[in-house]
Amino acid sequence: MEHESGTTGDGTGDGGGDPGNRGGNSGGPSRKTVLKAAAAVGMALPVALIGVPALARTAGERGVTPEATPACDDGDDPTPPQMEGPYFKPNSPRRTSLLQPGTPGTRLTVTGYVFGRACLPISRVLLDFWQADTYGTYDNTGFRFRGHQFTDATGAFRLTTIVPGLYPGRTRHLHVKVQAPGRPVLTTQLYFPGEPRNNTDPLFDARLLMNVRTVGNAKEADFDFVLNVPQ
Ligand SMILES: [Fe+2]
Repeated sequence: MEHESGTTGDGTGDGGGDPGNRGGNSGGPSRKTVLKAAAAVGMALPVALIGVPALARTAGERGVTPEATPACDDGDDPTPPQMEGPYFKPNSPRRTSLLQPGTPGTRLTVTGYVFGRACLPISRVLLDFWQADTYGTYDNTGFRFRGHQFTDATGAFRLTTIVPGLYPGRTRHLHVKVQAPGRPVLTTQLYFPGEPRNNTDPLFDARLLMNVRTVGNAKEADFDFVLNVPQ
């Protein structure tokens, strides 16, 4: 299958989708937001505490009796997979910034954490990103806007890039493969809120929406992955 437009290969193209609230946000802090905040606190703690559930770490630091990570059991499933599409290339360079001198486009920073099923952060997780340039074109001969990195000891990652351009049939998105050590690869895509095409792209999945903020002339996004990794 050569195109990303459609999940079934039946060529239905724009797919229609439900016009309701696919791009919507339920409001209020999400589970992932809570996790991110907890893990951010955890970053300041000794490595010896990394094995403690993120939420328990936070509670412990405040002198409160740690609870059994209640927010980790609210029914959220692992980050859903999405199709790879035709533009993945193996052997991307290891780098956290995909910017090159003079790269046109709106600067974008994506940060987040990778968690397992028990909401523990996972270090040394491979994240391999690829995306279109600001004009909606993939580099299929070289490695522009392709790069892989690994989560640090706190399970955190940080990608510096640009906002990908649009191309026919798709809403705005980033591609990524995520793989914990010795585990299967999760291939998925990340989306931007408020994009008109989120309502018509049949691949769009609101569970893969990043939180995106505008900071000056740039964008800052965050997304936390949950891998189906027993802990
Ligand atoms: Fe794509």
